Amino acid sequence: MTASKDTISTRLLEWYDTHARELPWRAQPGQPAPDPYRVWLSEVMLQQTTVAAVKPYFARFTERWPTVDDLAGAPEEDVMAAWAGLGYYSRARNLVKCAAAVKELGGFPETEAELLKLPGLGAYTAAAVAAIAFGQRAVVVDANVERVVSRLFAIEEPLPGSRKTIRIHTDAITPDQYAGDFAQAMMDLGSGICTSRDPKCFLCPLSDDCQALISDNPARFPIKAPKKVRPVRQGTAYWIEREGHVWLEKRQGTGMLGGMRSLPDDGWHSGGNGDTIALIDSQWEQLGLVRHTFTHFSLEMLVLKTTVPTDPTERAGQWWPIAEIDDAGLPTLFAKAARLALAQD
Ligand code: ADE
Ligand code: SF4
Repeated sequence: MTASKDTISTRLLEWYDTHARELPWRAQPGQPAPDPYRVWLSEVMLQQTTVAAVKPYFARFTERWPTVDDLAGAPEEDVMAAWAGLGYYSRARNLVKCAAAVKELGGFPETEAELLKLPGLGAYTAAAVAAIAFGQRAVVVDANVERVVSRLFAIEEPLPGSRKTIRIHTDAITPDQYAGDFAQAMMDLGSGICTSRDPKCFLCPLSDDCQALISDNPARFPIKAPKKVRPVRQGTAYWIEREGHVWLEKRQGTGMLGGMRSLPDDGWHSGGNGDTIALIDSQWEQLGLVRHTFTHFSLEMLVLKTTVPTDPTERAGQWWPIAEIDDAGLPTLFAKAARLALAQD
């Protein structure tokens, strides 16, 4: 079965007629569009935040500032305080700026291009407001839409590189009319049926059109680019005490950590065979592991402790008063090791 624009949008809009979620910022399917202020406010709030978390904020905002002009006149700190807990606080600051610009214009502009010119209003919000509040044809792509479209077309290209392809496919299935209902139907499908882990394809109005369902395990989509994994190196650092002092060395070279004061270590070049090489012949106690992430690898460093009666090595070093270890200028990795040693005492 080939997925055609008409079958997909028709099936989805029919499904939405009876399955649309009732949300406080939404008109029911086929009903007159809601107040653009409410659409805009909800779409800004819903970025990076769930519907459940947004509902009480939306209720409080719209009670306190029922119109965009009210919000435009609100002190920024009041809006920031009302926003507290929603996160990404630049959104709240931009909210007031945008409301002021809208007030100045005498209302929200109705096209995607004009909406985009408002301060702090990005591509997603412009498309969503144009479609949902003004019935314009706009291509609305949020994370739900990305997931559904990746599956409908079995897009093998991984995110984020596949965004362009996803947009082209979304454009191709977006109807000329009811683009707002279509966008919200895609979101409802994505959040209720075509879910990340466990899509309920047997309930899906688009199952006949879905290439992921035919070809494979649909939950495989969207394909994500593998996170770069850093190789793990293992090493050992030595906490060597003598009469309230610890033995510190100055690291050689100009490379990473070169010239820094540090605990003696084994160079941590071992590829992870777990062997522990004692620096000197002594009674060693294992203090634990310190983990640290460098740009190109992460390090698991075992810290060993001993007490000695004389200078431990031929390597240049000095006895540093343990009570003053914070002044030694140890790089973070070795400061962590020092904390481990001090925690034992
Ligand atoms: N997520 C973002 N916008 C939404 C909307 N209008 N309806 C449901 N979920 C959404
Ligand atoms: Fe998603 Fe399954 Fe529907 Fe395909 S058939 S769109 S995978 S819920």
